[in-house]
Amino acid sequence: MSSNTNQPLTTSWGAPVGDNQNSMTAGSRGPTLIQDVHLLEKLAHFNRERVPERVVHAKGAGAHGYFEVTNDLSKYTKAAFLSEAGKRTPMFIRFSTVAGELGSADTVRDPRGFAVKFYTEEGNYDLVGNNTPVFFIRDAIKFPDFIHTQKRHPQTHLKNPNAVWDFWSLSPESLHQVTILMSDRGIPATLRHMHGFGSHTFKWVNAGGEAVWVKYHFKTEQGIQNLDVDLAAKLAGENPDYHTEELFNAIAGGDFPSWKLCVQIMPLQDADTYRFDPFDVTKVWSQKDYPLIEVGRMVLDRNPENYFAEVEQATFSPGSFVPGIEASPDKMLQGRLFAYSDAHRYRVGANHNALPINRPKADVNNYQRDGQMRFDGNGGGSVYYEPNSYGGPSQAPEHKTSAYPVSGTADSVAYDHHDHYTQPGDLYRLMNEDERARLVRNIVAAMKPVERDEIKLRQIGHFYKADPEYGRRVAEGLGLPVPQDGE
Ligand code: HEM
Repeated sequence: MSSNTNQPLTTSWGAPVGDNQNSMTAGSRGPTLIQDVHLLEKLAHFNRERVPERVVHAKGAGAHGYFEVTNDLSKYTKAAFLSEAGKRTPMFIRFSTVAGELGSADTVRDPRGFAVKFYTEEGNYDLVGNNTPVFFIRDAIKFPDFIHTQKRHPQTHLKNPNAVWDFWSLSPESLHQVTILMSDRGIPATLRHMHGFGSHTFKWVNAGGEAVWVKYHFKTEQGIQNLDVDLAAKLAGENPDYHTEELFNAIAGGDFPSWKLCVQIMPLQDADTYRFDPFDVTKVWSQKDYPLIEVGRMVLDRNPENYFAEVEQATFSPGSFVPGIEASPDKMLQGRLFAYSDAHRYRVGANHNALPINRPKADVNNYQRDGQMRFDGNGGGSVYYEPNSYGGPSQAPEHKTSAYPVSGTADSVAYDHHDHYTQPGDLYRLMNEDERARLVRNIVAAMKPVERDEIKLRQIGHFYKADPEYGRRVAEGLGLPVPQDGE
């Protein structure tokens, strides 16, 4: 803890405090006086110390670092921070679990959030991904229901495996992510020993206006390491902040974790003919079809000075793009473009982007004014509307997002690709016998408490369709009948 060099204690309005140990009372045994404004202010401020925790990804740890380009990919994107090898951009990352509350244990089985903020010269670019390349669902309209199943039961306030497996078994698109989650990778050894993924498909646009589809992969340079389930359970009880502590201590000790950033690039027209919809976030693109191309390296080399100011108040939005990087029609991503800034306005406030941790290093010039907690100059007396005749900031047409032709009938439609089984089956078949045995053991342990056999049988049917051996082993582990082909 750093000391404050014996400065006099002051109130929040800067006046010296005469007594910070004894409240002012009417006589030594009398009631407390309302005129003790220092006491009133202290208690009132304390009551307001918490902002609402994130509705998901509440428990997290953050670190500062830099991103350095190692491979010039300016033929694909005009993003200035990626423009030449050797270029460095400061960044901040927040890792998180998904379902638990702010004080929950780190070593639980859950995807890990992997949210990166690049402070580029053209504004902040946020890549708000996970340590998994896919997600449980592929349409934003299912997200609140999905998260309800991950959170607590409204009556018992307990986690509810029944809801979890009911939802998953009725949403077979989740099978790929469920298989990853239940595998060894479901509990990383530390936050440093896992990959990160942008998960969605994004669009890159170059200076000539030509576009490609892109997926991001952060490859850990520490190597993948996972936790044994028994050790994870022990740690969850003994040191619920294990991952948070491990990351902080590694960085404090000069052991700076790093990741190589690679991308997969898909030509725009391939999206029309690829064997599945490349915007479906429950699928990975084959690396044989679209090999990894190195972009750069991310290094975390500085701990936050203050957890609340930097980690809790950090706001990441999948919609914070910079020129050269744009959205794709991924139905999940489209929903996220709305959800995050809306959460930030509620959780941190309308001016959350002006806080030091979120403030771009680039100049911010616009006509937004006022709002709660406007603590910068609020534009002073400068022109506050547009168009104007006073030389105020104006749009730069060269930065318009790329045009994208669309056609069709406005309707609520599902992705027209229903093979939820090939990719999870391939993943199962990639595992060696020990990995398969642990996967099945984890699934059986997680499904055992499910009350209804109907739910278990439905889910076993999905495992079976991915690979008959996968389904058979889970069924046997649960003491339930093995499905037959065609069931
Ligand atoms: C956090 C919504 C899907 C990764 C959040 C938050 C919301 C949210 C409201 C809290 C934001 C805050 O309070 O600052 C949604 C919705 C989704 C969705 C509506 C689907 C439509 C995903 C997916 C990923 C993801 C697919 C990863 C690929 C994250 C991460 C955070 C987060 C990493 C924590 C960010 C941080 O560290 O501050 N999400 N989410 N989410 N979400 Fe999602």
